[in-house]
Amino acid sequence: MWEEGNWSATALNFEADVEHWRARLTPRQRDAALWNYAMFLVGEEAVARTLSPILDAVDDHDDQAFLATQIVDEARHHVFFDRFLREVAGVGEDPSSTLTAVQDHLTWGFRQVFGELDRITAELRRRPRDRALLAQAVALYHFVVEGMLATASQHFIQRYIRSLGLLPGFAEGMARVARDESRHVAFGVWLLGGLVQRDDEARDAAIALWERVLPWAAGVFVPPGMDTSYAECFGFTIPEILAFGLRSFETKVRRAGIEPRAVPLLAAEPEAATFEERGERLWTLVRDRILGTDDDPEPTERSLELILEAAARVMHEPTARSLGGPVQWEFRDGPPYHVVAVGSGLEARRGRAAAPALTIECSVRDWARIVMRRSDPRLALLAGRIRIHGPIQAKVKLPRLFDHPVLRPH
Ligand SMILES: [Fe+2]
Ligand SMILES: [Fe+2]
Repeated sequence: MWEEGNWSATALNFEADVEHWRARLTPRQRDAALWNYAMFLVGEEAVARTLSPILDAVDDHDDQAFLATQIVDEARHHVFFDRFLREVAGVGEDPSSTLTAVQDHLTWGFRQVFGELDRITAELRRRPRDRALLAQAVALYHFVVEGMLATASQHFIQRYIRSLGLLPGFAEGMARVARDESRHVAFGVWLLGGLVQRDDEARDAAIALWERVLPWAAGVFVPPGMDTSYAECFGFTIPEILAFGLRSFETKVRRAGIEPRAVPLLAAEPEAATFEERGERLWTLVRDRILGTDDDPEPTERSLELILEAAARVMHEPTARSLGGPVQWEFRDGPPYHVVAVGSGLEARRGRAAAPALTIECSVRDWARIVMRRSDPRLALLAGRIRIHGPIQAKVKLPRLFDHPVLRPH
């Protein structure tokens, strides 16, 4: 397939693209394209550079041959975006200055995800025999970076350049990139599938990696200043891109033999929700700076509701029932909520419970930080930012109640 699908990034003709870029794209479309393609350029350079430790860690000669072809693909993708950004968008003078010039466009989420890719692959270079580490590298590289982020971005880029009839040279290159990427992702699914089938430790390691990285991945497509016109100027929305990324990611996780709800962060979502609903919910949390950013949370009534619903889904149900009453939240800066055991599980409700077994007093911001693992609940307790009220028999159950990876600080 690789030999049949070979193409040339240097042979693409960008003459019409130069004209379109100058005369047919609106200033906002140019900003939006630059913002998005800058992440592709830096991403392709990074994946070309970080795949060799994975190649060194696989044993099979066929796998090694495949990964060698993938390194060539990623280098070619880098050349493609580098040419476009310089020759069409006029950014930089050579590959190195073009890479440097786009750094300002990288989002906080992007920097976190790719920082982790550098760390994990550097560690794998030192310990190529570690199967759990190899599983984490593939879980990040092929599932998050390629299977979620690149796949979603490519889908919307291809859709708008096709419907607007713009940038023909770029369109041809993107179609080639997308075909290469689907080959890479299919290989990654197969490779991780084999690793987790042979070894539970590899499975747990992949899940732990996703727990750490998914909140950052949610912040990759945060537009500058939360300005959603960066997507809307091309006829799509940010929640749509989040929904597409989630769907693509979960499909691959399932194909690798892991149930997506084994990833606690994904289990915090209602089982019946569609991907479109989940994209909307995720965007609400990102927009209110609850996750995907290192800005201070700015919770609204809606994001607070989502946070409490998620808490009810991840709380340890037998422990919650053993308390003999609801858990009450008294927010210093927001409406009260409580979580109560109902027939089929736990449910978050707005308002005060008649006889709570345990009361948690804190600010909405602090609770948002704890839920998204951005701060350590023990430190918040010590600092008095959280106070717990209730009988000692109930208080001692608190760690078990929230003994959940989502709520455990990293
Ligand atoms: Fe690529
Ligand atoms: Fe790729």
